[in-house]
Amino acid sequence: MYKFFFDLVFTRMDPEQAHHLAFRWIRLLARIPVLRTFAAAALAPRHPELRTEALGLRMHGPFGLAAGFDKNAVGIDGLSMLGFDHVEIGTVTGEAQPGNPKKRLFRLVADRALINRMGFNNEGSLAVAARLASRRPVFRTVVGVNIGKTKAVAEADAVADYVKSAERLAPHADYLVVNVSSPNTPGLRDLQATEALRPLLGAVREAADRATGDRRVPLLVKIAPDLADEDVDAVADLAVELGLDGIIATNTTIAREGLGLRSAPSVVKETGGLSGAPLKGRSLEVLRRLYARAGDRITLVGVGGVETAEDAWQRILAGATLVQGYSAFVYEGPFWTRAVHKGLAARLKASPYATLADAVGADVRNPA
Ligand SMILES: Cc1cc2nc3c(=O)[nH]c(=O)nc-3n(C[C@H](O)[C@H](O)[C@H](O)COP(=O)(O)O)c2cc1C
Repeated sequence: MYKFFFDLVFTRMDPEQAHHLAFRWIRLLARIPVLRTFAAAALAPRHPELRTEALGLRMHGPFGLAAGFDKNAVGIDGLSMLGFDHVEIGTVTGEAQPGNPKKRLFRLVADRALINRMGFNNEGSLAVAARLASRRPVFRTVVGVNIGKTKAVAEADAVADYVKSAERLAPHADYLVVNVSSPNTPGLRDLQATEALRPLLGAVREAADRATGDRRVPLLVKIAPDLADEDVDAVADLAVELGLDGIIATNTTIAREGLGLRSAPSVVKETGGLSGAPLKGRSLEVLRRLYARAGDRITLVGVGGVETAEDAWQRILAGATLVQGYSAFVYEGPFWTRAVHKGLAARLKASPYATLADAVGADVRNPA
């Protein structure tokens, strides 16, 4: 049904316009009490056995929406209604900015992938903090806030820009993510080098603590799949050393391996970050490497090419306590999380593990 609609309507529209249209419908539905109750019952049936505790937070399950879909925190209830167990908003930058010129989002339907060079289009930390502060949640969900650097801010002043966002947004975040891995802000990914990352994470931690008083907001870093293996290890070591709460692996890739046969070469050549199915292998590899290095000392969030319950299950076995997705939501539609949850519950039941927590990292701890 959704696939038919997708082929008939969305593929004829510009991908960014289709996103705004779909998101408007989701938000509208969530504003009408009787409809949202009905929608949540149909789309987000709960499986008590999937209940997850991570980062000191309780969630209905392990499966959330990755950053970038709701950049300005305008539709958290609607996304929760669709069954996401947590919603990561952002990336939010210190200052508002328009992002890159359009067209900047491209579909690679045959590859079940997207290329984007949005460039952190968002309303800025002040506006998003005000929106979160005045929010009256309808559905109880965990809200992560992902922060990044304002493009116009010089690389030498990056820390101050992140600190500004952290101070404003940490009070409204269940967890905070330092994004140093989007390929669409020049120089951003250089912040993944430990010499740059150490002072950045230290300053954001202090800013968040100043802003939240008694409540300690969990702090995570989101990394790129394009890091060399030694650099993945270095980030894991640094995260453990700094007492960071978690790592999100991974963002989109600048690689284009394995593409070009199914999707038009002209689209494959577009600059930006590639997400969806082609990212699956490398994201899983990075996750497994992080777990092998840091084990249970930090919480890992697996993202990149997750399309099915089996993909989500594989991430858990590779070390992820939480799993996220974005691109497959575009291709699978509103019944996606329901299918993932149902399949995860079935896999857990058929496995030797009593709980999801017992399954986390099992493949790395006991390789076949
Ligand atoms: C259109 C689009 C916009 C995105 N924007 C952001 C963003 O602002 N911040 C971020 O950390 N990740 C962003 N991402 C990356 C996703 O959060 C995710 O890490 C990546 O797409 C891999 O997951 P997927 O294969 O399930 O899509 C974006 C992805 C897409 C497709």
